Amino acid sequence: MCGIFAYLNYNVSRERRYVLEVLLNGLRRLEYRGYDSSGIAVDADLPAPPAPGSAPPAPGSAPPPYAGAPPLVYRQEGKIENLVRSVYAEVDEKDVNLDAAFNVHAGIAHTRWATHGVPAPRNSHPQSSGAGDEFLVVHNGIITNYEVLKETLTRHGFTFESDTDTEVIPKLAKFVFDKAHDGEGDVTFSQVVNEVMRQLEGAYALIFKSPHYPNELIACKRGSTLILGVNELSGQKSGKSFNDVKALTANGKPKELFFSSDLCAIVEHTKNYLAIEDNEIVHIKDGSVSILKFDHDKEKPASVQRALSVLEMEVEQIKKGNYDHFMQKEIHEQPHSLTTTMRGRLKDGAVLLGGLKEHLKTIRRSRRVVFIGCGTSYNAALAARTFVEELTGIPVTMEVASDLLDRQGPIYREDTAVFVSQSGETADTLLALDYALENGALCVGITNTVGSTLSRRTHCGIHINAGCEIGVASTKAYTSQIVVMAMMALAIGSDQISTQARREAIISGLFSLPSNASQVLKLDSEMKELASSLIDSESLLVFGRGYNYATALEGALKVKEVALMHSEGMFAGEMKHGPLALVDENLPIIVIATRDACFSKQQSVIQQLLSRKGRLIIMCSKGDASAVNPRGSCRVIEVPKVADCLQPVINIIPLQLLAYHLTVLRGFDVDQPRNLAKSVTTQ
Ligand code: F6R
Repeated sequence: MCGIFAYLNYNVSRERRYVLEVLLNGLRRLEYRGYDSSGIAVDADLPAPPAPGSAPPAPGSAPPPYAGAPPLVYRQEGKIENLVRSVYAEVDEKDVNLDAAFNVHAGIAHTRWATHGVPAPRNSHPQSSGAGDEFLVVHNGIITNYEVLKETLTRHGFTFESDTDTEVIPKLAKFVFDKAHDGEGDVTFSQVVNEVMRQLEGAYALIFKSPHYPNELIACKRGSTLILGVNELSGQKSGKSFNDVKALTANGKPKELFFSSDLCAIVEHTKNYLAIEDNEIVHIKDGSVSILKFDHDKEKPASVQRALSVLEMEVEQIKKGNYDHFMQKEIHEQPHSLTTTMRGRLKDGAVLLGGLKEHLKTIRRSRRVVFIGCGTSYNAALAARTFVEELTGIPVTMEVASDLLDRQGPIYREDTAVFVSQSGETADTLLALDYALENGALCVGITNTVGSTLSRRTHCGIHINAGCEIGVASTKAYTSQIVVMAMMALAIGSDQISTQARREAIISGLFSLPSNASQVLKLDSEMKELASSLIDSESLLVFGRGYNYATALEGALKVKEVALMHSEGMFAGEMKHGPLALVDENLPIIVIATRDACFSKQQSVIQQLLSRKGRLIIMCSKGDASAVNPRGSCRVIEVPKVADCLQPVINIIPLQLLAYHLTVLRGFDVDQPRNLAKSVTTQ
């Protein structure tokens, strides 16, 4: 799991300094995808222009010297800022001319989350074909047959310097290139890449750069997401011409073209993008883009025409603004993100979900609904489970994606399988999706990422529209996912007269969520104070039940992943069956006891914990402090009361704030927690 990025300017003069900054900035935007090493490759200097009056080169004469000049490649271990420092140090040391201007320049970049080989410059990308960097590749994904390919290439005299699976790719490209040159002669860049694709197994998004093909870039993909961004620099307003990549790009106008693992890295440059499909090869040459479709059974790829889309995202979304961290910004954004999730979808007491409309009848006839996801997305589905059953009358089962695959658990044609994923790219979730598709289930996607693999491969779905989530710990996506599942349950159950009053109450509860989220955010300084009292604790337990068992799991997950403190979410009903043995005056325990049908049971849990001298922090509905804490001995967090089934949306927010402040106070990295990355695209 990594981030890849590329920039090519055409017909517009750009200095090397500018190109470097675009590439490094692209990596900064993608850093959340992986942050243990990074690298870039840019062009070497152009030869001096021919002296005035000198004869033009004869047709068929040797190519100009830069066709073959090795690119400048920089690789560094650690965060992007390490790469930035080392690039500029090397530029200084080697007297690289930052003012050198290029009318066309092709640069590539990569940020890595290690899967094969430790973080080190030699394992960083771009990976190279060897001396002279004749082929350079940046890769997101995993090549599953790299060992076989490595063996074959080694037999052909290639030596390997890294421990990565990626290194076989540029070496394979060189092998194909050399073979073509030894044989029939010329070979185009796209022919080389087509042959490379024929050999590769696994999941990948790749960008190739080669001094044999100066000023060209090629990208291709299978599995991992890849976006093309196109910025026409003059005369292009909007409308029709954006629909046709060829028409837009083959007109010789100055332009900038980008490849990126996601939209966040291109939004500051352009809003015109194309989500590249599996098996497509995108070739940028002479300022135009050709798209070819790879087919294993055909020697030549077919040319295809694709439509550009217009990105609905604002640059502000990818900036921290006045906040110190993205996680903090995203927690505080929730009144807004909840609003955008519901916008246009609740009208005159009805729920309108365009993405599900055609499939509602089939869903209503399903034998069961199976929720499938990982981590926070799984927890969001768990928070929704009870009200989905209640409002639809359909039994709901829960599956952690990896466990479903391990067990090859039963999925039937009569099932509706609902896949929940912020990124829409999580490998376990996507493999579970393939499995459910093979078994004939109706597959519904719930994701925050337009154009993601999940949204493309499911039969239908709902975008949560929470806006770009950059902090590795998921926060605003969680609350928006629950709201989307509430709207989905309301839409499925809309034909049931017996639940009409309940549906109306939930719809009015949904309308009030953004203002209640604003209210609960006022607990920020209280949560900071609580965090400072927990800073030295080794462990934290969170007890919940009913609608809020998921809140306990999710609150504990947040504390664990960012504050690096051991934390467990537990069923309060299971307390007596084991966890009670842990209780003493030191171990902090959060008990969620907001008003719902389980309230009196939680009151009794509190009493039992207090009689074992438990160190309790109780979350309750506003006005209930004395009901949950009659002796006044516990710390109490009072939250606004909303419809019981929507209470998890409000209850998680103080726990997100607690995890955030604990992390800052304990001195850990909030947005890039140790060993984690935002989208886990490996199994
Ligand atoms: C926790 C977190 C992870 C993700 C999980 C699934 O804060 O972010 O647990 O929820 O990796 O990711 P998505 O939702 O992208 O499928």
